[in-house]
Amino acid sequence: MKTIFEPFRIKSVEPIYVTTYPERVELLERAHFNPFLLKARDVIIDLLTDSGTGAMSSHQWAGIMMGDESYAGSESFYRFQSAVYNITGMPHIIPVHQGRAAENILFTLTGGTGKYVLSNTLFDTTRANIEYSGAEGIDLLCAEGKQMNSEAPFKGNIDIEKLRNFISEKGAAAIAMVIITITNNSGGGQPVSMANLKKVKSICNAHQIPFFIDACRFAENSYFIKLREPGYGEKTVLEIAQETFSIADGCTMSAKKDAFANIGGFLAMRDEKLAEQSRNLLIINEGFPTYGGLAGRDLEAIAIGLEEIVKEDYLQYRIRSIAYLGEKLDAENIPYLKPTGGHALYLDAKGFLPHISAEHYPGQALACALYLTGGIRSVEIGSVMFGKYDQQGKLIPHSNELVRLAFPRRMYTQSHMDYLAEVIVEVFKNREQIKGLEITYETQYLRHFTAKFRPIEKN
Ligand code: F0G
Repeated sequence: MKTIFEPFRIKSVEPIYVTTYPERVELLERAHFNPFLLKARDVIIDLLTDSGTGAMSSHQWAGIMMGDESYAGSESFYRFQSAVYNITGMPHIIPVHQGRAAENILFTLTGGTGKYVLSNTLFDTTRANIEYSGAEGIDLLCAEGKQMNSEAPFKGNIDIEKLRNFISEKGAAAIAMVIITITNNSGGGQPVSMANLKKVKSICNAHQIPFFIDACRFAENSYFIKLREPGYGEKTVLEIAQETFSIADGCTMSAKKDAFANIGGFLAMRDEKLAEQSRNLLIINEGFPTYGGLAGRDLEAIAIGLEEIVKEDYLQYRIRSIAYLGEKLDAENIPYLKPTGGHALYLDAKGFLPHISAEHYPGQALACALYLTGGIRSVEIGSVMFGKYDQQGKLIPHSNELVRLAFPRRMYTQSHMDYLAEVIVEVFKNREQIKGLEITYETQYLRHFTAKFRPIEKN
């Protein structure tokens, strides 16, 4: 059969409150034209993030009832440890309350002034933790990863030539580590090939530089390798994931993504000394090493989620449903970052709204239009999030103006996708009427979360 259906049945439902257009006009104004400031109940389809928002399975909910809440040595920890070990093969597994806590421990220990951390593209919290330690984070994404319309299969790859050059320029001793983000969230949810990971590893080996993986979306990356990389079509996703981790010296993981959990994460590694230091920091910041800031029930949910995430019928539905939306947009020539990613589709607001200049934030304007037209919540990834000011206070725009539609796992069905496509097409048809925005309030750091805006009179 041709039809790919959601490989689950719905047992428990969460009603959606359906707002009207006039209500949304008022709600958006009250939220100062920033979707982060909307109440979730006023959103019809919430695509703000795929992090911690997924639907748990009945098996996971049953596991939650089995959570062993002992302070030390709980059964749930051993089940969690065994599930993580099965995939990563890492001897030291340290639970944390979410991905950024793993980053904080790792870079507190390995970063520091004068050090560099090299990556394909660092996620914001990873970069923030690196910089907080005094080190500098450097993105070395391959050239095709920066091209909006390239259909290259592995646009998340690091540029090997640039990696070699950077190491020889600064000297291996200055490189704290190389950390590759799979899939590359900030670069469009694009995958990294096994060949690229192996090249990075051999360069790191030659210079004795540690090689880590930011593994939040390891299952989606493994499935892309199965579909796109020669020699992997016959392997299972679990085997590909195991091979991926076998290359690395360690990993950070947010279990809020590819572990179907609402909270949690881990830090895993091979180096015993680093693991001991990590556990010492863990005890100060997160908790005893067998719970690390999580309840026993959370560890159960992660353990079961890790078994479920590598199921290929799920991954087929997951990747296909986002590609399906992409095809609907292609039919109307609506610009987005090609090809569709593993967890999200990134609309190209610059191409969508060419009449709005970067100073008037086309991504934010598009995110607002999606909400007004259909109650869709998305997030701007452009000059609101990454823009800086020069000495004269003039905006230095970001290179791209994107709007991310990130899909919670197992939550929405095909008819939600059809509705979403209809909304985007409608917005596209009326795009000339969309007005740019100006900022009326902002904070010095991470301004996108709380900034306030108002529409400009005339574009
Ligand atoms: N690394 C990547 C690649 C991520 O996408 C995230 C989170 C983290 C690390 C941090 O993990 O949230 O558990 O502390 N990304 C979310 C997002 C927030 O919306 O993309 P965390």
